[in-house]
Amino acid sequence: MPTPETTFTTHPQPCETIKTTEEQNTGQSRKLYIESYGCQMNFSDSEVIAAIMQQNGFDTTNEVEKADVVLLNTCAIRENAELRIRNRLQHLNSLKKKKPSMMIGVLGCMAERLKAQLLEEEKMVDLVAGPDAYRDLPNLVAEVDEGHKAVNVFLSREETYADISPVRLNSNGVTAFISISRGCDNMCSFCVVPFTRGRERSRDPHSIVREAQALFDQGYREVTLLGQNVDSYLWSSSPDVISILGEQKAIKKGVDLTGIEVVNFARLLEMVAQISPLLRVRFSTSHPKDMNDEVLHTMAKYDNICKYIHLPAQSGNSRVLELMNRGYTREWYLDRIAAIRRILGENCGISTDMIAGFCTETEAEHQDSLSLMEAARYDFAYMFYYSERPNTSAAKRFADDVPLETKKRRLQEIINLQNQLSLERNKLDIGQVQTVLIEGSSKRSEAHWMGRNSANKVVIFAKKDEKPGDYVQVHIQDCSIATLFGESYKAS
Ligand code: SAH
Ligand code: SF4
Ligand code: F3S
Repeated sequence: MPTPETTFTTHPQPCETIKTTEEQNTGQSRKLYIESYGCQMNFSDSEVIAAIMQQNGFDTTNEVEKADVVLLNTCAIRENAELRIRNRLQHLNSLKKKKPSMMIGVLGCMAERLKAQLLEEEKMVDLVAGPDAYRDLPNLVAEVDEGHKAVNVFLSREETYADISPVRLNSNGVTAFISISRGCDNMCSFCVVPFTRGRERSRDPHSIVREAQALFDQGYREVTLLGQNVDSYLWSSSPDVISILGEQKAIKKGVDLTGIEVVNFARLLEMVAQISPLLRVRFSTSHPKDMNDEVLHTMAKYDNICKYIHLPAQSGNSRVLELMNRGYTREWYLDRIAAIRRILGENCGISTDMIAGFCTETEAEHQDSLSLMEAARYDFAYMFYYSERPNTSAAKRFADDVPLETKKRRLQEIINLQNQLSLERNKLDIGQVQTVLIEGSSKRSEAHWMGRNSANKVVIFAKKDEKPGDYVQVHIQDCSIATLFGESYKAS
């Protein structure tokens, strides 16, 4: 029997962990079980899916055996992510043999990538729905009830699910995620996301502020704003102005914006930060080509905007970055790191994603990735070796020519270096007194709290009379690669 997952990752990155739904009993007739894979955006979508299903006769369960409908919200970012889901489907098939009425649906990015082909390849699957088709789920379920297979993989240019209040799953009651945009327009050559999630669209900022305010009123103390590229967030009360020209260009071209509300990411951050000084604001992911000083100055202006930036580099070599179509060079990237340190100070947490062994990467180019990591002094990194994805421009244009053993060895070198950097950075915190938001008990010990400092580092300390959701001052006394340890002063 699966146990509900209680750990949280605050990155929208593909950590490939599973989350099961927790029991929510509102007296509905049918039971839904959802398992989420991939990035935080998928987890966030599962909360929208649960809300839609709850309005249509379903309660959630964390016991797959009890479910009438089992939904896997899937990831397609690397081959391994898909292999894992295929294995899970095999396991569900054996359950279904015992309980033939069980409906199995595949949602999310793998559903979007493979579309109806999934029904051919995995016979146990009854329903396939892409990331923009969740409002249609009740109809799709009804089709399956009538004995048909059901598919909806249409991608939308407008859908943001802005009006749906997500059902918070596996919540610690302190931290929550809010999607601010969907899709991605960047077309990095290695990446499936633009194909699986479609065009980028920004959600109405007023619905974002309403959601954050509602969370705060319910006792939540931290929200993380999610998008594949938060820096390109751009919304206007007159969609035409933005979609055709973009804010800066519109102003340059002399378009009269009087009376038209235009909200970019810096302004959105400010709007959310102004809800309450007691509501922490985080965001992810920042894109190095678009992250500007305006955002950094807004972060500096508000204590409650956490001093932490996830700024994926992918590679430290300009030729490889060009092949990746990332839109920046090594020098540009290092200038952005310098701007963060200049405007937000040395304590600001910085993390990255790195890909080892991209097409044609030489040993010297790999060394450039290592030296970039040393120069940036990352606190944390998500590290992968390149996995070719069908139909991406890298798959079409370049040979996946770095041998697997070489990819793995380079990845290991990247991981070893990052472990060393994380430890060095964490040691700098020893002796400091830091504000920590308590998220809950430590996984390892009921006698200790687990919380995070502004820089997103996990801090563990002995319980006194505090409670989850409290901000406490913690004197940092020790550290490991992944964790700070300290002692609390007083609840505030
Ligand atoms: N929008 C984010 C990343 C989303 S995908 C950004 O632009 O940074 C998360 C991470 O998965 C990427 O940053 C990249 O490091 C990794 N990734 C994506 N496609 C990959 C592939 N084909 N092989 C290996 N890693 C990949
Ligand atoms: Fe993928 Fe690039 Fe978009 Fe990130 S910015 S989701 S890596 S295409
Ligand atoms: Fe996320 Fe995986 Fe899709 S990383 S956007 S769930 S491909």
